[in-house]
Amino acid sequence: MAIINTQEMLADARHRHYAVGAFNVENMEFVQAVIWAAEELCAPVIIQTSVNTLKYATPEMFLSMVKTCADTVKVPVAIHLDHGSTMFNIMSCVKAGYKSVMFDGSMLPYEANVEQTRSVVELCKSIGVSVEAELGAISGKEGAPKESDSLYTNPEVAEEFVNRTGVDSLAVSIGTVHGLYKAEPKLDYERLSTIRNCVESPLVLHGASGLSVDHLRECIARGITKVNIATELRCAWTNACRQYMVENPNVFDPKKASKLGREAVMNVVKEKIFILGSNSMA
Ligand code: G3H
Ligand code: ZN
Repeated sequence: MAIINTQEMLADARHRHYAVGAFNVENMEFVQAVIWAAEELCAPVIIQTSVNTLKYATPEMFLSMVKTCADTVKVPVAIHLDHGSTMFNIMSCVKAGYKSVMFDGSMLPYEANVEQTRSVVELCKSIGVSVEAELGAISGKEGAPKESDSLYTNPEVAEEFVNRTGVDSLAVSIGTVHGLYKAEPKLDYERLSTIRNCVESPLVLHGASGLSVDHLRECIARGITKVNIATELRCAWTNACRQYMVENPNVFDPKKASKLGREAVMNVVKEKIFILGSNSMA
């Protein structure tokens, strides 16, 4: 199946009350693992690449791997730039053929975030590329954030931000962090419900690695439509490959360890698809 825009995928998820998993990939085996898991469970899926990952290989390289693999399956697959923070990040993915990007201006002063996000939306809308933006800061890499009105997404400001920028989806800050949690995550569900009442566009949950089944299901029940998962996949890959190499120090075929890494990533993706309720939704 051809690669599709995230907009229609998220519209369906919003309508049918499930969330689409957006999985960060690092190499060819991650791409295969995510797409094969989605195909096995008949789930729509989003593959995303961070800016650092795109420095390791190019948007063209990732897009061609995703297209090649997506062509062999029936489920809808989208490819998305995660946390682009400059026009250069956006343009390099758009030029390569990405149909979905995130512009993360959350560290900018509010007015600058509005202005820059709006410029990205103007450029992308005219060529059919959907745009996710962020309001409020999702901290990381470690530890749980202290609740603070300046860090968490303000629902009224979110409404104004979406109206002024025209973004297709909005990443919200409600207490999740990127990377590993050092303390029990404390999510502000009330805030999420209020944002949902103020904002029509699909809402995105970042920093989903390490959240429990209950956390994820509650967030989806209160209106989250896209769930981003990166760290748990990296851990699964690295642990599986490391264990094989430690146990088999005389094997020099990289495919042996990589195959186990791929299986480990695929298992995590399948587990998340069930939790998000996107299985059988394709
Ligand atoms: O943008 C990517 C995500 O927010 C992933 O966060 O590494 O905590 O799963 P995570
Ligand atoms: Zn994120």
